[in-house]
Amino acid sequence: MASDRRKLIVVSNRGPIAFRRDEEGRRIARRGGGGLVTALRSLVTQHDVTWIASAMSDEDRMVAAEAGERAIEERARDGSPFRLRLVAHEPAAYDWFYNVVSNPTLWFLQHYLWNLAHAPDVDSGLHHAWKEGYIAVNSAFADAVLAELDREPEAAVFFHDYHLYLAPRLVRTRRPEALLAHFIHVPWPEPDYWHVLPRPIRWAIHDGLLANDLVGFHTRRWRRNFFQASAELVGAEADPDGGAVRYDGRHTTVVARPISVDPLEFDELAASEAVIAAEREIMARRPEYLVLRVDRTDPSKNVVRGFRAFERYLAAHPEMQGRVGMLALLDPSRQDIPEYAEYLGAIQRAARMVNDRFQHHGWIPIDLQIRDNFPQAVAAYKQYDVLLVNAIFDGLNLVAKEAPLVNERGGVLVLSENAGVHEELSEHVLSVNPFDVEGQANAIHVALEMRAGERQARLGAIRAHVHEHDIGAWIDSLLRDLDASAAEVGRV
Ligand code: F6P
Repeated sequence: MASDRRKLIVVSNRGPIAFRRDEEGRRIARRGGGGLVTALRSLVTQHDVTWIASAMSDEDRMVAAEAGERAIEERARDGSPFRLRLVAHEPAAYDWFYNVVSNPTLWFLQHYLWNLAHAPDVDSGLHHAWKEGYIAVNSAFADAVLAELDREPEAAVFFHDYHLYLAPRLVRTRRPEALLAHFIHVPWPEPDYWHVLPRPIRWAIHDGLLANDLVGFHTRRWRRNFFQASAELVGAEADPDGGAVRYDGRHTTVVARPISVDPLEFDELAASEAVIAAEREIMARRPEYLVLRVDRTDPSKNVVRGFRAFERYLAAHPEMQGRVGMLALLDPSRQDIPEYAEYLGAIQRAARMVNDRFQHHGWIPIDLQIRDNFPQAVAAYKQYDVLLVNAIFDGLNLVAKEAPLVNERGGVLVLSENAGVHEELSEHVLSVNPFDVEGQANAIHVALEMRAGERQARLGAIRAHVHEHDIGAWIDSLLRDLDASAAEVGRV
């Protein structure tokens, strides 16, 4: 049964907790960031979870060393116990894994970010990073999973994301009977695009994933691409209608299950002191109309085109200058990677250009704030008239589900047709092509001109959808999928 308490080994690169020292030198645990970690936190309250993650900070490494390759007992915010096993990788290997392969290569590939005339160069550096970084780190994760399976042979293993494509095969080879699932939180590109990577690499990725009993994506679109890529790249027998792939004598179920959020958590957050204080500040500074974007400063988020669209909107509607502003709350991400650092520079230049062109009498069109401040983001969620989510490609995009839950102004969602969440919300949003700057400018105009009744109806429909398909429903559906997979492999 999906509601039974069960033994789960959750495996993700970033863990639910990061350790550091405070000013007095005391060790403190801070909750890890990112949609994946937030979404999976509730698993811990309902199941016996051992979470395996990379030791990322120096203090994490200390914790891992003290634990001596064993899990430590931790508690979630609500007091629920869980086990945390931090894997301390060799620093150079981790650097190659994270800063060469996972983000500038796999993330770029899976979000179609390359301008292929110029990038990527699959040079000896990448080959080296693949071997000594990606394979090494995946092997270390597989070893940790195997050690935990020795302890709890009945536990189901739940891998997450693009960091861990090889680990399932490494586990499967040594534990043919293990129940393995993998959820991919990013898009799956079409087969031809995988051909940017050399055959051994693209083959190992698909071969690794197909060692799982269950593979999940956020959308039918990414799932369809995975069926096609599996057939074309490793010769698997894909059966989209039957929802499975046969490969290497095994059967992998492939599902589309869009992740979600906890509406109650956002109700509580919206009423919290920190959010109300941040909201007061926003209200004191806000122009009559507020266009909001909340993102990481990741190239896939398409912030620069969003600013250009706002510039075109202001140029086409001079009567709105001084009355409308864009608030861009951007969390700086992966700044050790040159492509990400350069993109942050491009974001700053683009905002500056718009502001230099239009600002007058104390009105600044784009209020760009680059920092990680979640209470401020939730406060802004309450206050927007238009929410712009114009990602180039996005696995899902949780902002598009979170913000409407607490919005108090009948805010309209302008949403990229390439964000995974578009598959669920398209009827209630203004859809845009993320490359069409003119189209986005026009959508901002349409949103701001929309009648109050229609704005409220759309907002209400998004809210109702998220309430009905909340994070609990997502987890239940995946656990049901896992049960079905267990039955398939004769585990129940
Ligand atoms: O979008 C996929 C995802 O894994 C998120 O779930 C997560 O927030 C992020 O990417 C990982 O980010 P980071 O590199 O900061 O760990």
